[in-house]
Amino acid sequence: MKTQVAIIGGGPSGLLLAQLLHIRGVDSILLERKNKEYVLSRIRAGVLEQGLVNLMEEAGCADRMHAEGFLHDGALISYGDEMFRVDFRKLTDTPVMVYGQTEVTRDLYAAREQAGGKMEFNVDDVVIHDADTATPRVTYKVDGQERRIDCDFVAGCDGFHGVSRQTIPLAMRREYEKVYPFGWLGILSETPPVNHELIYANSERGFALCSMRNDTLSRYYIQCPLSDSPANWTDAAFWDELKRRIPCEFADSLVTGPSIEKSIAPLRSFVTEPMRWGRLFLCGDAAHIVPPTGAKGLNTAASDVHYLYNALRDYYENGSEAGIDAYSEKALKRVWKAERFSWWFSSLMHRHPEQSEFDLAMQTAELEFLRSSAAAQHSMAENYVGLPY
Ligand code: APR
Ligand code: PHB
Repeated sequence: MKTQVAIIGGGPSGLLLAQLLHIRGVDSILLERKNKEYVLSRIRAGVLEQGLVNLMEEAGCADRMHAEGFLHDGALISYGDEMFRVDFRKLTDTPVMVYGQTEVTRDLYAAREQAGGKMEFNVDDVVIHDADTATPRVTYKVDGQERRIDCDFVAGCDGFHGVSRQTIPLAMRREYEKVYPFGWLGILSETPPVNHELIYANSERGFALCSMRNDTLSRYYIQCPLSDSPANWTDAAFWDELKRRIPCEFADSLVTGPSIEKSIAPLRSFVTEPMRWGRLFLCGDAAHIVPPTGAKGLNTAASDVHYLYNALRDYYENGSEAGIDAYSEKALKRVWKAERFSWWFSSLMHRHPEQSEFDLAMQTAELEFLRSSAAAQHSMAENYVGLPY
């Protein structure tokens, strides 16, 4: 088979890129290791920056998001007995969209299917060949049958555990990583959210987050040790611990119910440089990972897709290679700012096992400064709603 862009990975990065390219008449074939149902079964965060909303509109996939999503103007931050609200809308004139990333992925699959997009599922043994030449190709297997795609470019949208990053020779890659000494135990419940906006809580027992998917589906998280397991937590134990970590007015009004999903996610910061090698371009989790605290995973993948889509569009429409030559440096500039914000917010809101008394005093001082300073809240708001592309 031949195509213009071979896309490895059928998560939000690969799907959004495929749909945007399609809108501009650029042909692609997307290869996904799993099947669509598996991809859609993954529970992910639910806060979208305006930049991603704009891309979904450009891709013609934003109708359900606008119909079912919620615009949030701010969020609550609590620590000890204190609580304050950061008003993003007032500070930046920009809201965030609360709409499950699973729904974003569902909408993108629907659009690709409606457009007759070429997607292959349950692919094995994907290998990217000659990425550093003008004639890259991808080989893979479906049901044991070897297949081959000759293409102009390869987009590595296959996440942290994919093959694309590994295709770039180790000697050419610089990798940066920070593993946090705790995880997030998350629960999904068919209960009304405890508050109409998100609550980020730094309590002496650890971090907690009150989020939602819609007005009858809530998402809650509590910080837990890396050694912990969802099996260690009955629903009742989770609800009791959450109540101990959030402000009492919300603990008292919290509507509990059976969990429909319960899982633990580790927290990691990771970046690989460069995000390009020849005609292979890395997008999203294939190139970088953030702790979920700032909800920057998909939102940073979105800016990668924006840069790559426009670079490829410029190549095919104008014969210019300026965009593809600038892609890695341009994407990484925004990636590192998202990494910084995610690291800062994670460090601010979590209790670290090895924290000294001084560290705790610094955390409290930072929270007090954030609470009292319009400039500090403006800085946080700018990052939370999304820095410009
Ligand atoms: N061949 C084909 N597909 C692969 C391979 C492979 N060798 N390895 C992984 N994949 C697929 C995975 O099955 C997955 O569906 O690539 C996809 C990668 O999707 P994500 O991991 O969701 O990464 P990405 O699309 O970059 O999404 C970025 O969105 O899902 C949210 O917050 C999440 O940070 C994440 C962000
Ligand atoms: C979520 O709803 O899953 C979510 C929201 C905000 C975050 C992280 C996760 O910062």
